[in-house]
Amino acid sequence: MAEAFNDLTLPAAKAQRYAAVGEEIAAVLDGEPNLTARMATVASMLASSFDHYFWTGFYVVDPTRDDELVVGPYQGTLGCLRIAFGRGVCGTAAATRETQVVADVHAFPGHIACDGRSASEIVVPVFDAAGALIAVLDVDSEQPAAFDGTDRLWLEKIVAETFRR
Ligand code: SME
Repeated sequence: MAEAFNDLTLPAAKAQRYAAVGEEIAAVLDGEPNLTARMATVASMLASSFDHYFWTGFYVVDPTRDDELVVGPYQGTLGCLRIAFGRGVCGTAAATRETQVVADVHAFPGHIACDGRSASEIVVPVFDAAGALIAVLDVDSEQPAAFDGTDRLWLEKIVAETFRR
């Protein structure tokens, strides 16, 4: 499996690369019900597949607190631990249940700068089979405007196929 995760074997074009990585994620996670294992695997496989990713991971809904996210499995530099619903890009995605694509994080009201090198970001809400919000997937890039409709389409598809089941 690991040998599939290098530039030699993954397609260069972004959409095709997402399709290939999505298939690999599904194959690796087949039969594994543990949510932490599923999130850790998605974060690792996405992070190692795309050069425009700088920070890749999950903020999970904390069942012990009202409307608060707590950091989950991730790849990257130290992330902040907790984010209230409505705060920053992750909190906005959680509160609105809508994917946020932010070309310039410094222009986003209330953006939480965990690492000043992050320049743009996409955050995708994660729902379970019952339609309940369980987490958000946060991907940050050092490049401005690194994420477009292709990233959104494929990340939403991978998240739905991995967690809404
Ligand atoms: N940028 C995020 C905070 C999380 S970190 O970037 C890891 C936000 O504003 O939601």
